[in-house]
Amino acid sequence: MISCSDLHGFRGLFLDFIGDPFDDFEANCTRFFADGLLVVESGKIKDFGEYRILKKQYPELEITAYPNQLMIPGLIDLHVHYPQTEMVAAYGEQLLEWLNKYTFPTEARFKHQAHAQIMADFFLDELLRHGTTTALVLTTVFPESVDAFFEAADRRHLRMIAGKVMMDRNAPKELLDTASTSYEQSHQLIQKWHDYHRLAYAVTPRFAITSTPEQLVLAGRLLQEYPGIYLQTHLSENLKEIQLTLELFPNNSDYLSIYEQFGLVQSRSVFAHGIHLSDGEFNRLSAAQSTIAFCPTSNLFLGSGLFKLHTSQSLNPSIAVGLGTDIGAGTSFSILQTIGEAYKVTHLQGQAFSGLQGLFLATLGGARALQLDDKIGNFQIGKEADFVVLDLQATPLLSLRTRQALEEKTLEAIADSLFALTMLGDDRMVQATYIMGKPALFATDLGSG
Ligand code: GUN
Ligand code: ZN
Repeated sequence: MISCSDLHGFRGLFLDFIGDPFDDFEANCTRFFADGLLVVESGKIKDFGEYRILKKQYPELEITAYPNQLMIPGLIDLHVHYPQTEMVAAYGEQLLEWLNKYTFPTEARFKHQAHAQIMADFFLDELLRHGTTTALVLTTVFPESVDAFFEAADRRHLRMIAGKVMMDRNAPKELLDTASTSYEQSHQLIQKWHDYHRLAYAVTPRFAITSTPEQLVLAGRLLQEYPGIYLQTHLSENLKEIQLTLELFPNNSDYLSIYEQFGLVQSRSVFAHGIHLSDGEFNRLSAAQSTIAFCPTSNLFLGSGLFKLHTSQSLNPSIAVGLGTDIGAGTSFSILQTIGEAYKVTHLQGQAFSGLQGLFLATLGGARALQLDDKIGNFQIGKEADFVVLDLQATPLLSLRTRQALEEKTLEAIADSLFALTMLGDDRMVQATYIMGKPALFATDLGSG
């Protein structure tokens, strides 16, 4: 018999992935339990399976029951700017004008650590309210804003990746670093935060337009000096952006080749958007095993274009793709809603994209892209117990829509409800978010709200 000292159980409907539904039949990739049991010990998954069978092994287990709720692994946001929270939904511009008019003035306020702390708390509360438990996060050029973010994430025991924006040209003076200060500051931040508890660091040149070649050389050097760290940046989002980029780098034949030239295209590199990539660029990203963050609400909001998900998946190997909200160009913190918009973007191109494929990208797919699938992404025994409880009856309309599925409780019926959830979904559907097996901590719990 197993001692129940630090054990806790969760009972209800469970859905997760053990394979890639872009490569195989959904039924082969999915695990669904209509009445499942998740056993957590010291923050990690100790056991997972059918309640009827598993419960016998844990006769004294304390159980939290969610009888009509769907538990899924914590959602992963592969591209989001925490300082842009307060300027979400700013009217009327495309990328370059939007950056100058709204983004840069907002980011300039983050040189004050007190402001950054308030915003980091607000941002993390929003992530957790929406069921997002891991994110790849851009901060600002100010190291204080990076410290504020990591400190807030660490207080909540979150698995988060972030980095200081490197930007030494083509932005307002107060937002510029230099090639050498950006290197030094990033270096110090890596020493302080990379691999500290559940945190990791991403070298973050904003995009080619705002970095000199000297700065990109040093970004590449950081990647070489610290093989475990990530690279995050923007790529091929907007036609005017691409034109200006190639004017600034006249010897390069395409956008990706600039990042390649500086050693920034590797398997821990995450490129946001990639909307206007050529076939050659797609092929090179596939060969480098880099990741694209598909950010549909942002791409629609800024009028940037439609990401060719089907092209990225048709290559051999397929390009790792995850979903990004890209707040504040994106318009929702909800990964459910982001899946819904990804559906519309693919549908407009005559391609299929199921709710299950969307949920895969937001869980195991995102974890694989970040090479964190040994720790998060599904309910595999030994992984960290970050998960989300979805209320399939959160609104009268959703309740009506999912009634039959909750009677049937089959994978097909729940998958259909999940799709409806992505169309109708937002934070109201997230009943609870668990971090390492415990209810997520919000700013008010930490005395900072
Ligand atoms: N390209 C460079 N910076 C940004 C940013 O802040 N948001 C988006 N969407 N694209 C960018
Ligand atoms: Zn972005």
